[in-house]
Amino acid sequence: MNQDKIVAIKEAIAQARAKNKEELEAFRMKFISKKSVVGELFAEMGKIPNEKKREYGQLINGVKQAAEAKFQELIDRVNESSKKSKSADLDLTLPPSNQSVGGIHPLTATRQRIIEIFERIGFNLSEGPEIEDDWHNFTALNFPENHPAREMQDTFFIEKNPDIALRTHTSSVQVRVMENQKPPIRTLSPGRVYRNEAISARAHCIFHQVEGLYVDENVGFSDLKNTLYHFAKEMFGKGTKVRFRPSYFPFTEPSAEIDISCLLCGGKGCNVCKGTGWVEIGGSGMVDPNVLENCGIDSKKYTGFAFGMGIERIAMLKYQIKDLRLFTENDVRFLRQFRPLL
Ligand code: DAH
Repeated sequence: MNQDKIVAIKEAIAQARAKNKEELEAFRMKFISKKSVVGELFAEMGKIPNEKKREYGQLINGVKQAAEAKFQELIDRVNESSKKSKSADLDLTLPPSNQSVGGIHPLTATRQRIIEIFERIGFNLSEGPEIEDDWHNFTALNFPENHPAREMQDTFFIEKNPDIALRTHTSSVQVRVMENQKPPIRTLSPGRVYRNEAISARAHCIFHQVEGLYVDENVGFSDLKNTLYHFAKEMFGKGTKVRFRPSYFPFTEPSAEIDISCLLCGGKGCNVCKGTGWVEIGGSGMVDPNVLENCGIDSKKYTGFAFGMGIERIAMLKYQIKDLRLFTENDVRFLRQFRPLL
């Protein structure tokens, strides 16, 4: 038995270093594999006299364990340092990767902003069904049967049942709210509406409206005007002018169309406002006493105003979008422009 040789091997194991995978493998070959120096010590067992075998066995097992422990230690160190060098490669000054971040659809953003403006002045939110009956969409709103006013709105009827249609306006929600609540009522009803119209840059068969209704004692036309002045300034900016143009709706008397000064040309006249300096954003008026009575509200005690505006129209003005179809085409080149800036 060569004590010196064993001591030398132990010493070599203790001194061994490894910087990478190749050096780890070299260590393994030299101290752990069958053909390694440690392997040779085991092969020499046969030559050891029987009475010394036990002592020799303990010695070389100690060497083997030392080699294995050292090997594990070297593996851990190599792994650790490769992790470190990877994090050293991280360059914090590089521009961020081009991650895809979603944005809010311009119609959703516009609807949210409208809601926010009216909620702050005491309007609550209400909803009604998109598949509506004749009473809520027409009759309660003072559209007499077979009256040409019904043709103002090209209606999609449900086949075989002329009593049921896709609602043509959100005014139907007014009726539902008044049937179910007592004044004072101050409510805003945004929603989708449907009309049988050819699709073009300015019209669509599906679009969105927002209806407003205020019913209480002593509500007057000046309240309507002030509310909409406030809305226009909040939505489009302080300098925005509002104009009320006399009009006709079966459910309001008097009725007025709401125009705002053209945001694109500042009122000088351009192709968006067709040279007039004004663009229409909706209709409005004092709720017709017949409508109040149809919904069970005493028209001698209460008066109210109502308005209905097109959400697409408002979004088009706000974001200067010239074609209504862009809202529903889902073209990412359009939608990407509304992503939040990172
Ligand atoms: N419902 C009308 C339309 O779709 C818009 C409207 C006009 C709503 C006058 C109103 C109103 O509430 O008072 O064209």
